[in-house]
Amino acid sequence: MDKREFLQGAGACSLAAILGESAWARWSGLEPAALAQASDFWTELRGRYRLRTDFVNLENGYYSMMAQPVLEALVERIREVNFEGAHYMRTRAADERMAARTALARVARCPIEELAITRNTTESLDMVISGHDWKAGDEAVMAEQDYGTMLEMFEQVSRRHGVRCKRVSVPLDPRSDDELVELYAAAITPRTRLLLVSHVINITGQVLPIRKLCDMAHARGVAVLVDGAHAFAQLDFALPDLDCDYYGASLHKWLGCPLGAGLLHVRRERIPGLWPLLAPPPKAADDIARLAHSGTYPAHIDLALRDAIAFHESIGIERKSARLRHLQRYWTEQVRGRPRIRINTPSDPARCCAIANVGIDGLAPAELARRLLDEHRIYTVAIDVANVQGVRVTPHLYTTEGELDQLVAALLALSS
Ligand SMILES: Cc1ncc(COP(=O)(O)O)c(C=O)c1O
Repeated sequence: MDKREFLQGAGACSLAAILGESAWARWSGLEPAALAQASDFWTELRGRYRLRTDFVNLENGYYSMMAQPVLEALVERIREVNFEGAHYMRTRAADERMAARTALARVARCPIEELAITRNTTESLDMVISGHDWKAGDEAVMAEQDYGTMLEMFEQVSRRHGVRCKRVSVPLDPRSDDELVELYAAAITPRTRLLLVSHVINITGQVLPIRKLCDMAHARGVAVLVDGAHAFAQLDFALPDLDCDYYGASLHKWLGCPLGAGLLHVRRERIPGLWPLLAPPPKAADDIARLAHSGTYPAHIDLALRDAIAFHESIGIERKSARLRHLQRYWTEQVRGRPRIRINTPSDPARCCAIANVGIDGLAPAELARRLLDEHRIYTVAIDVANVQGVRVTPHLYTTEGELDQLVAALLALSS
């Protein structure tokens, strides 16, 4: 691939550019579902990542490493900003941030006026949780399967403003969307102001029916904050179709960006109502940039964001999502229902994508993770929270079926 062409940013990149015209010609006619199973294509793409060979990395949920072309672009971007110094920050940084926001709004398929770049999901969601105009006696609803520090932020808000937090518990294998909608609806009272819901529950990989939950909450006058840390750039959706009020995501997870990039989406009419985490310079009340001030920031990340988006768009969200779902089904279908093995992720393919969680009866999650690594050279993460006891398994685009065969063999050996 021509590096200079890639460095031009979003739109300049294609699979033909990444893999070579003649290589891509072998697969370019395949639909996403067929391409998802074309192992030789993904092996070719795997060559664009630098991977450790001493273990199989199935913990790509923490963050998903950049592909080599994106990493190389990032290094160039750091050099570029460092070369120009303060001159860059005073003359180009704002325009480049706008260009990065424009590219990101294209990925999210939302108006740019409703989208800000932050450092991560934590910053985006905490902005909303702490910045809501709380009154004593207000209530908020969330799930015990939501991300730990978001629950902590609600606890802080509870101590500070006298807000009552109610936690529901999401079943591991729901029968229907209605079951989930009713679960959350039952926790709402006339005093409820905000509902936090995970688009993808990080510990199990379960995908929640966000649009239906928003419709239910809005019918009761409740705003919805969606934790999209694992959904953005993993699932194929347009942000406005969710109809949520606030959405936060980390771009270093599934968009393959450098560490330290996130997005915050706020529905236009909700922007003036939020208190920023960090006081910005004077701006119009409805300017979302008010919510994205963090002082002097790593400006090279904005530049590399466009390179990561170019790489992501060259693969395409439909192909990416189909491959990730295929990988998850590939291994879970081989072990689901086996003696002592528990899959803590829904059986309905529409309720999950890349991530799944597996437990073995009689083995503590930490012990299972340790033995997978020590005895089988497979890296996962132990989860022991709420109703979830197991290890989280998160493949990436570079994961092969052969690596998942290794996981299946390890699980069968450990459970026999
Ligand atoms: C569901 C969920 N929310 C929020 C976060 C926090 O993300 P970050 O640390 O990038 O802010 C994570 C991180 O794993 C997550 O899985």
